[in-house]
Amino acid sequence: MPGQDLRLLTRAWGRLGRISRRARERVRGLPLRAAERKLGRPVPPGRLIHLVANTEDVTWFLDTGALAARSIRQILRANGRAIEDFGAILDFGCGVGRVIRQWATLSGPTLHGTDYNPSLVAWCRRRLPFAQFTVNALDRPLAASPESYDFIYCLSVFTHLSEPLQRFWMQDLHRVLKPGGYLLITTHGDHYLPMLAPDEQAQYQSGRAVVQKASREGSNDCAAFHPEPYVRAVLARGFEVVAMIPEGALGNPSQDLYLLRKA
Ligand SMILES: C[S@@+](CC[C@H](N)C(=O)[O-])C[C@H]1O[C@@H](n2cnc3c(N)ncnc32)[C@H](O)[C@@H]1O
Repeated sequence: MPGQDLRLLTRAWGRLGRISRRARERVRGLPLRAAERKLGRPVPPGRLIHLVANTEDVTWFLDTGALAARSIRQILRANGRAIEDFGAILDFGCGVGRVIRQWATLSGPTLHGTDYNPSLVAWCRRRLPFAQFTVNALDRPLAASPESYDFIYCLSVFTHLSEPLQRFWMQDLHRVLKPGGYLLITTHGDHYLPMLAPDEQAQYQSGRAVVQKASREGSNDCAAFHPEPYVRAVLARGFEVVAMIPEGALGNPSQDLYLLRKA
């Protein structure tokens, strides 16, 4: 059938384009394959990086992942904890493994990642064998049993959810966290205030969250902004706020970093 031939040809053409783009790709000056050999593990394709980061830049992906891991270590250390101390760690909204790949050589904790996007999880499952990955639903509880994890981190996830889903996920993450366990989240805070529309600024300044394109929640099209009093009073309900660093989420530019503890 001519229509089918055309579709096959278009698909093959697209695939060829992706292969040749990848062959030209450089990571810190090195061809991609050589960089992967040096790193000791594969780098995701640009189209998957784009899904989580709105850029296909592999060097950005690797550098900011390392920075994010450093800021996790720093905030834990400043509060008397080390990532190696934990038994089970969950990267909620792990994307294509930008941060969890940084723990590949960690000894001690078991590593888990979950995301609602099956393509991202499929890549992580195939390429990052040191961790276990699951697909969760956008708005249903995790399959994990209560009190499964000692430490959960969510980088740039609550920044893309509607308010009802933010509350839902805070409750579910509270459920799967062990008593005394830690939850780390990042938010868009005061840094973004000048970029909001006047009515949104008024809403934010009165202590309420602002969510743009809530109907696109889960994707980067949806953007949520959180004043600190809102995080403390609403999102962090049931947690102790151990630390908050304005714009402290290195590798997730200009996002606030909160470290919470389940009572
Ligand atoms: C901006 S990306 C950040 C990805 C990753 N945390 C990182 O820092 O590279 C947001 C991620 O959250 C995921 N996500 C959004 N809503 C989710 C939900 N309800 N459950 C699990 N993952 C979710 C998206 O699929 C995406 O991978």
